Amino acid sequence: MPNVVVIGAQWGDEGKGKVVDLLTEHAQMVVRFQGGNNAGHTLVVGGQKTVLHLIPSGILHPGKTCVIGNGVVVDPAVLVGEIDALKARGFLKDDAQLLISDNAHVIFPWHKLLDSFREKARGGSAIGTTGRGIGPSYEDKVARRGIRMRDLLNPDRLRKRIEERLPQALEELKDLCAQAGADVPQLEVPQVLAEFSALGARLKPYVHDASLYLSEQVRRGARILFEGAQGTLLDVDHGTYPFVTSSNCVAGNAAVGSGLGPTAIDKVMGISKAYTTRVGGGPFPTELNDAIGEQLRKVGDEFGATTGRPRRCGWLDGVVLRYAARVNGLWGMALTKLDVLSGLKTLQICNAYDLDGQKITELPGDYEDLARVKPIYESMPGWDEKLAGVRTFDELPENAKRYVRRVEEVSGVPVVCVSVGADRGETVLLQNPFRAE
Ligand code: IMP
Repeated sequence: MPNVVVIGAQWGDEGKGKVVDLLTEHAQMVVRFQGGNNAGHTLVVGGQKTVLHLIPSGILHPGKTCVIGNGVVVDPAVLVGEIDALKARGFLKDDAQLLISDNAHVIFPWHKLLDSFREKARGGSAIGTTGRGIGPSYEDKVARRGIRMRDLLNPDRLRKRIEERLPQALEELKDLCAQAGADVPQLEVPQVLAEFSALGARLKPYVHDASLYLSEQVRRGARILFEGAQGTLLDVDHGTYPFVTSSNCVAGNAAVGSGLGPTAIDKVMGISKAYTTRVGGGPFPTELNDAIGEQLRKVGDEFGATTGRPRRCGWLDGVVLRYAARVNGLWGMALTKLDVLSGLKTLQICNAYDLDGQKITELPGDYEDLARVKPIYESMPGWDEKLAGVRTFDELPENAKRYVRRVEEVSGVPVVCVSVGADRGETVLLQNPFRAE
């Protein structure tokens, strides 16, 4: 039975949550493998909106298991809040529905403080992080001084780890606070220990060896859906470095971040909006700082699900999609928010860049070059019809069909799903990745 990775093909916010929610019906479990509560996955089911930051989007389906893999960084207070909110609404009735890897790293208060104060210190070259402590937590992991979920369950070990790490973090914070003219935050071992031991005790029923559980499921032939967070262009290796997040968002990390071998993955589905958005700093060649950009933001409700920040909006970038196809090995693409383009007279798709007078068709490796390129556009006629009621490809207006077909040609990836509204039902699924071909 195929296992499928769903991945963002742009700079995040492509609508992965909706596609994962839709595909969960065909899977037995959903796995998050990277990122943390910097993600915000919005789901609308029967008109009711749910925003999830840590728990995989499949949780709204009773009987489906959701796994937070070792590659995720976990803010335990946020996770407990999400669990409580879901339970209050009648979801997550059975605790066995959620598993958290004992090897996932934990976000502590100093990570969040370091994240915000470092951003302040960066001034004009700030990355525009979500301020959730994601980068500093991954740094501790790689520096081999991180604290993991398993440590939260062992108060003696947790005390030792906090005693080692907190003074070092406070040293750096002291310098940053002095630069910012701010008071050094009061963080003491007993208080952090008490708070995080209590959170550990609360989360204990969910903490397991997720790799062992998943490999057993693979052996039994379970269908697994891996839910990527952020997007390819925010990947720490393959994104627009340094304006990226601190994890690998590409499909290859689905194996590493869940403790399975790469042979467990069969298909990779990329998700792209019918246009492009980006939150935070960094290059964005097709950005529109005009009335059309404003219209996309307004009609597409382009405000961050995590921070509420307005998203930068622009035309679809085919160079970015081809790149995403390459570094993820995309099998198919879901094109979301096609309905947002209704009413625009002419649409533009960028298929190449002009870099200092030279036409280039691949993404340049230097972000300074990407910041300088001029998009080379091809124009296509738009359509006026609203798309919310469309349920089959044939029902799309002719120009919308042409647009979708052109996206396939430009990206080199077949469009297997088209989303025409936020609700689960407002979708045209042309090919189901869980069906064997
Ligand atoms: P961080 O992940 O909070 O460190 O932020 C690094 C960059 O990734 C910033 O530009 C953020 O705006 C961006 N980012 C992080 N998570 C998301 C997301 O879920 N959607 C879109 N952008 C994100």
